[in-house]
Amino acid sequence: MKVLGIETSCDETAAAVVSADAAILSNLVFSQLDEHRPYGGVVPEIAARSHLEHLHGLIRGALEEAGVGFDDIDGIAATAGPGLIGGVFVGVMTAKAMAAARGLPFIAVNHLEGHALTVRLTGEAGFPFLLLLVSGGHCQLAAVEGVGAYRHLGGTIDDAAGECFDKTAKLLELGYPGGPALEVAARGGDGARFALPRPMMGRDTLDFSFSGLKTAVRHKVAALSQPLAAQDIRDMAASFQTAVADVLADRCARGLARFQDTYGQAGPLVVAGGVAANAYLRERLDRVAGAAGTALIAPPPRLCTDNAAMIAWAGLERLRLGLTDGFDFAPRPRWPLEEVRAPLRGAM
Ligand code: KG4
Ligand code: ZN
Repeated sequence: MKVLGIETSCDETAAAVVSADAAILSNLVFSQLDEHRPYGGVVPEIAARSHLEHLHGLIRGALEEAGVGFDDIDGIAATAGPGLIGGVFVGVMTAKAMAAARGLPFIAVNHLEGHALTVRLTGEAGFPFLLLLVSGGHCQLAAVEGVGAYRHLGGTIDDAAGECFDKTAKLLELGYPGGPALEVAARGGDGARFALPRPMMGRDTLDFSFSGLKTAVRHKVAALSQPLAAQDIRDMAASFQTAVADVLADRCARGLARFQDTYGQAGPLVVAGGVAANAYLRERLDRVAGAAGTALIAPPPRLCTDNAAMIAWAGLERLRLGLTDGFDFAPRPRWPLEEVRAPLRGAM
């Protein structure tokens, strides 16, 4: 079984082919970074037009690289939300048109489910597992019981972790996109130099909050002599990254305890989404999992950030359960993971 996957929900245009034996036959990503850089963030209108311009070439390339034609494909999956709706429309309409023309099943994939199931493409994560999903738009803890079976345990009450990385990087003039640049800057910094808050740490919930941390960074940066000295930037980057990791580690330790109570097993802990590419965070979470008697499972960094292999894989997991979607499926700009349900088998 092979599935073609399409991702167009933010600023990456991507197409990939994966097979049921968890082989990534092709995985092409076109990053629109250069088009959005002058604006310091993603411009939805530019993103949608760019997806339209690049998607067809990427699909052709992904099929060619995988050495397959439409006759060898068993289904076409596309991100159908959540995300910037103009881009989502481009991917969904393209997938539906190809599926209709070729008589193939169409699978509407939730982008967050794509991140959540990536560890089953790259390794042997069985169900259930505790998921920390940390990306540019999301930050949540969920128990993953199966495909289409997600139990929300906690989430951010304000900003997402990735958004906070991006805003801090902007304040430190590290350029765009901020997360990866901040990680590099932090390597040469003193993470203990600036005292920053750890919102929600120690609280008996599994929720997150990052806006207070963001504000604290802004005040501390404003108090430094301008223009910022290179070492000040590195120290602030490291102090910020340590604060975020402390919070995420604390929440995951609590999440693992709750997970043990509910499921009678010690994890595993899975981290997914763009921020999961951060090596320092992975190291910290690895220690948290170890202390709880379990392991951290994290996809390789290039599969943490947005890509189409994860969408093709989530599509394949759904297809082999008979979970396909009709051509009347409407793209959803908002689509929480816990609202992803396994529809009736074979529903078309
Ligand atoms: O999953 P993703 O590619 O897109 C969304 O679905 O949001 O996540 C993008 C987010 C951005 O905020 C980016 O700055 C962050 O992930 N990110 C990182 C790193 N690489 C990407 N944050 C911290 N460290 C990184 N190495
Ligand atoms: Zn994402």
